[in-house]
Amino acid sequence: MKPAFVFGTRPEIIKLAPVIRAFEELDVKPLLVHTGQHYDYEMSRVFLEELELDGIDYHLEVGSGTQAEQTGTAMIKIEKVLMEEKPDVTLVQGDTNTVLAGALASVKLKIPVAHVEAGLRSFDRTMPEEINRILADHASEILFAPTEEARRNLEREGITSGVYVVGNTIVDAVLQNAEVAERKSDVLDRLGLRPKGYVLITAHRAENTDRKENLERLVEILEDLPITAVYPMHPRTRRRLEEFGLWERVKSIENLTVMKPLGYLDFLKLERNAKLIMTDSGGIQEESIILNVPCLTLRYNTERPETIEAGGNVLVGLEKERALHYVERLLNDEEFYRKMAGAPNPFGDGKAGKRIAEILLELWKKGELKVRSSRFI
Ligand code: UD1
Ligand code: UDP
Repeated sequence: MKPAFVFGTRPEIIKLAPVIRAFEELDVKPLLVHTGQHYDYEMSRVFLEELELDGIDYHLEVGSGTQAEQTGTAMIKIEKVLMEEKPDVTLVQGDTNTVLAGALASVKLKIPVAHVEAGLRSFDRTMPEEINRILADHASEILFAPTEEARRNLEREGITSGVYVVGNTIVDAVLQNAEVAERKSDVLDRLGLRPKGYVLITAHRAENTDRKENLERLVEILEDLPITAVYPMHPRTRRRLEEFGLWERVKSIENLTVMKPLGYLDFLKLERNAKLIMTDSGGIQEESIILNVPCLTLRYNTERPETIEAGGNVLVGLEKERALHYVERLLNDEEFYRKMAGAPNPFGDGKAGKRIAEILLELWKKGELKVRSSRFI
């Protein structure tokens, strides 16, 4: 069997690594295709090194661009690889432009698509990610939903066959790397941080960074945080801060340390030892509940409602008063803190990667890994 993995950004590398590993353990050699949507060392290569994904077969060097430029260029280049390599299945993960490009290029060549982390919905179609998720799910033959909630979202859109609830591979990634991170990373010493003595911040999403008034609201929250803060900053945010003339303001915040994005081991260690996390990232909302760290999400909706229902995550948007209210409460109300930190992980047992590889291998052996003419026959 020949599975092709198409990926291109930081979270895709992290979340697909456990699936790639699981195939290798079944003696199946995966074809690895990196679109190059992320290309800085600290957004891509560092993860390939740390997660030991050294055998990338194709680097497509798509790079940055408008939505259509990036997606279109990726499609053209992925199609060439798939035509040449003729894999049995194409795996994509999540909701990036790389995912949409991989799914469309593949299904049109009649190579079935397996979507890892299928069925997530923010119910906000103004987000590029929501469009990517919906279209990728509808182009996919096999849908690996992380939770029952995700399965129900697919069902609501008429997708009921080929759906498997397997958990989220982020749990695999955290379990496989958290201990190593704790041992190997010296990030706390490097940054002069005390365990549970700081808040960890990340924000990069288009809706928070691409409009000056929104980015300024984020800066205002950062300016008033009553606790030491660290912010490994996505290059998109850094660029926008400079463009909008806000960078100097951020740099002058006394209790805030801004740095380049970190590798996975350093970042996991920072997450695990944070008092709380403030983020607009999808993966970090998941990791915080897995690591028992309260999360305040800098968004007005989330495609991870399980984290809210479990009690480990609160949506604060860019509302300064609301955000600071929850920060104060987490710092001062021990019982509230314990409740949020103790929320149960809704994303599974850390064996999602193994399940995905086994299911696909089984379908392939039975000759059932193909694009069907209809979902309903
Ligand atoms: C993309 C995904 C987003 C995901 C994020 C993970 C889409 C539509 N968005 O957003 O869902 O959460 O990846 O981090 O696919 N840049 C660099 N160096 C890099 C990569 C990007 O400087 O290595 C800068 C460029 O200025 C680029 C900007 O970041 O224009 C945005 O990059 P892009 O890949 O378009 O989207 P992300 O914001 O990374
Ligand atoms: N991450 C990292 N270093 C950082 C920031 C994030 O290793 O400086 C990891 C984080 O642990 C998580 C993933 O990157 O697994 C999340 O990626 P991102 O926030 O870019 O994307 P999203 O999950 O929002 O799509």
